[in-house]
Amino acid sequence: MKKSYYVTTPIYYVNDVPHIGHAYTTIATDVMARFKRWTNHEVFFLTGTDEHGQKVEKAAKEKGRTPKSLADEMVKRFQELWKRLDITNNHFVRTTDDYHARVVQEFFSRLLESGDIYLGEYEGWYCTPCETYWLEDELGEGMICPDCGRPTERLKEPSYFFKLSKYQEPLLKFYQENPEFVRPQSRMNEIVSFVSGGLNDISISRTNFSWGIPVPGDPKHVIYVWFDALFNYLSGLGYGWNNERYQQFWPADVHFIGKDILRFHAVFWPAFLMAAGMPLPKRVFAHGWWTVEGRKMSKSLRNVVDPHLLIDLYGADALRYFLLREVSFGFDGDFSHRAMAHRVNGDLANDLGNLFYRSLSMEMKYFKGEIPQPSGRDQEISSLAEAVVKDVVELMEMQEFKKSLERIWDLVKAINKYIDTKAPWQLAKEKREQELKDTIYTMLEGCRVIALLISPFMPNKAQEMWKQLGMEGSILERSVDDTAWGGLPAGQKVKKGDPLFPRIDEEKMVAKVEKMLAKAEKGEVKAEKKEAKAKEKVAKRADGLIDISEFAKVKLVVALIEKAERVPKSEKLVKLQVDVGTDRRTIVAGIGKDYSPEELVGKRVIVVANLKPAKLMGIESKGMLIAAVTKEGVRLPIIPEDVPPGTEVH
Ligand code: MSP
Repeated sequence: MKKSYYVTTPIYYVNDVPHIGHAYTTIATDVMARFKRWTNHEVFFLTGTDEHGQKVEKAAKEKGRTPKSLADEMVKRFQELWKRLDITNNHFVRTTDDYHARVVQEFFSRLLESGDIYLGEYEGWYCTPCETYWLEDELGEGMICPDCGRPTERLKEPSYFFKLSKYQEPLLKFYQENPEFVRPQSRMNEIVSFVSGGLNDISISRTNFSWGIPVPGDPKHVIYVWFDALFNYLSGLGYGWNNERYQQFWPADVHFIGKDILRFHAVFWPAFLMAAGMPLPKRVFAHGWWTVEGRKMSKSLRNVVDPHLLIDLYGADALRYFLLREVSFGFDGDFSHRAMAHRVNGDLANDLGNLFYRSLSMEMKYFKGEIPQPSGRDQEISSLAEAVVKDVVELMEMQEFKKSLERIWDLVKAINKYIDTKAPWQLAKEKREQELKDTIYTMLEGCRVIALLISPFMPNKAQEMWKQLGMEGSILERSVDDTAWGGLPAGQKVKKGDPLFPRIDEEKMVAKVEKMLAKAEKGEVKAEKKEAKAKEKVAKRADGLIDISEFAKVKLVVALIEKAERVPKSEKLVKLQVDVGTDRRTIVAGIGKDYSPEELVGKRVIVVANLKPAKLMGIESKGMLIAAVTKEGVRLPIIPEDVPPGTEVH
């Protein structure tokens, strides 16, 4: 029976297109999954998308679409990229999938019943136009909304809470008993100190938006996105709909995540699972963040490292190699095209590519494509190969991708050196036939072991090597057992092809990238200017004062209501036809709860006449009424009957 192994990526938000950060987590997880398959494990690899919540609802609204249609489109973008990067996930979970909602609701109900979830009151700073709660330290002076610059108000709403406080001690005990639960160590320390500082209960439902999974039995509430999202690791596996698979693979061996979402995974998630009486995952690995060309990744800079562009420029395998070779997994790193080109030319083209190309060239030259029969095994290279395989298996157990690749390159470099020392051209010249056979065999057999070792990292190049060595079938169906020395059959025909990694003209590449960077910089300057302007606006609003020129922009006039009717399916909205002196126009006003259409006709009101038209319930509204908005309702000002429509109000 094969041992089971379960790895996951975070599920990605669909309000953003996939970028290099997403690609990084997914590639690391894929390499881990492939490596475990290669070491004879039965692997389940899960990735997917996180589709609920206010951010997605808002992003959809801004684009004038439904959240689901936006999600459908973005899911395609993620799936396309994963295909290009040769990601081998076994399932793709979407939080809008039915089976997922059922699992989330089941756990919610279970915890509600056990008392770990209770109904309480959430209190926070709320911005009504943005429909968002803010934390106190996110607000500007005067409790101003950081998004729109309007004042927020202290609001309370009913909310379900999870008793996180109850799990402080059990969590600390769990960390102590499982010191490798969080990797790397520095992150484990961070979590222990955070939990030791005390835990508050957390609000896990919202009533101020609706794009989410409803609380069972209380559908005014939707379940908080993180409660919803974390359970993907169970639902995507099959909990509740493929229990055999769930039984086989749960608990997860590693959840791969970025450092920014560590608390959710290392504190909330195990606490939810403890509350539900479920086994806990074995490890959460928090990797670092990438900057781009020395700078924090901004929207404009992202284009410079768009994963599709990187695949076009360097190929998927080289990108996979670079991301895992350049920085230790767990640390932050910087992506620069110069560094990327350098790695391709150095490690890949010079070290590995050249080794393989010259090995095959010499084989062709001296043995015309037929692999020679060695007299025995070369001790030095074969034992190094065995040691490297053993070390890499151990290193990968700890997700040491960089060290693993470095160790594989020890073998690459050793064989290159071996060739230089043995000098097969000299052996040929001196007609030392058997020695030449032994040397060429060692070179090629070494390459075969290298191909197997790199196959989880660079599956395409590994397959290419396999084919050129004349090996049959797919290297991806081979395992660590095939690394045993001597697997290359004498007499087999090699099929020499093109060099594995074409060299990159670094200077040309850098010039190209500089152009892209300059463009990105322009974009950044523009974005910065926009942000500065927005901040200025907020600052102005913060002192509550505007100057007269700002007020003068608003054209207020008296209007006469000529017709009024309710907007179908809306309690609040009334469609008015008003005479504003210069013209007649339609205005949709939210006063239907306080005024009937009959009492509105003939009334004089004040309207903002130069407001950009807006569509409300499909009706174009050209302007807005001025009214007093009290807690009890809306009151219109009284305008004497002798004031004609169109009279300006200052
Ligand atoms: N939806 C949540 C995860 C829920 S998991 C139950 C989420 N999604 S995300 O799309 O915003 O981010 C997903 C991953 O991308 C995170 O692991 C994050 O660390 C990673 N990255 C985003 N930007 C990154 C970099 N600049 N560098 C490296 N990874 C980064 O969070």
